[in-house]
Amino acid sequence: MIELIDAGKTYTSGTIEFEALKGINLAIHEGEYVAIMGPSGSGKSTIMNILGCLDTLTRGQYRLGGTDVEELDEIELASVRNQQIGFVFQGFNLLSSLPAWRNVELPLVYGHVPREERKKRASRALERVGLGDRLDNKPGEMSGGQQQRVAVARALVGEPTMILADEPTGNLDSVSTRDVLSLFDELNNLGRTIVLITHELEVAQRARRIVWVKDGAIVRDEVNAA
Ligand SMILES: Nc1ncnc2c1ncn2[C@@H]1O[C@H](COP(=O)(O)OP(=O)(O)OP(=O)(O)O)[C@@H](O)[C@H]1O
Ligand SMILES: [Mg+2]
Repeated sequence: MIELIDAGKTYTSGTIEFEALKGINLAIHEGEYVAIMGPSGSGKSTIMNILGCLDTLTRGQYRLGGTDVEELDEIELASVRNQQIGFVFQGFNLLSSLPAWRNVELPLVYGHVPREERKKRASRALERVGLGDRLDNKPGEMSGGQQQRVAVARALVGEPTMILADEPTGNLDSVSTRDVLSLFDELNNLGRTIVLITHELEVAQRARRIVWVKDGAIVRDEVNAA
């Protein structure tokens, strides 16, 4: 269970302050599939960074599985990120010098999984996203859709309970978009919590619930009837 309580985020650059999140309340239960929608600059990535423990609130509370995240130290936070959360970032965030399987095994390296096991699990994750024949290709040798699927495989490899995906279909053609979204359906059917950030309604409509963000506030939160 994820809970944001009167959650606020103000960015400070020099003397300029910008209130990116204006006290939002949001509860997401285990196994939910939620899309967060909103225009550019509305605060979607900010929410993702908070949910993923990559950044902290400047006011309010973030509770993850009953724990106030504020109270965790850096080591505990790293372990939450590593064991509970799979990230698919806006843009792929792949390392261009490494073959696909090495990109995918990275979360396991930080999790101290032995090398042989890492390769096995990375291969399995790549097979799962339909890239079993691309283990040794570097990102530059793959299409945009394939690179995004590598990023999804990397998010899956640690078997996290929650997947946070920021515009995972942003640069994809319709076929690759369909593939990535089917994968999320499958993962959700297996009980994974999915938080999908997008500004495309068509993509958001794959989720069971849609939360609409505007100017740092939640303006609508509804069960997806589609
Ligand atoms: N590090 C930062 N310092 C100052 N302002 C920031 C910072 N990060 C984000 N912002 C501002 O906060 C607001 C929300 O940014 P955010 O990245 O969350 O938007 P978004 O909804 O993800 O947009 P997009 O759809 O374009 O990705 C924007 O106005 C942005 O300029
Ligand atoms: Mg964003």
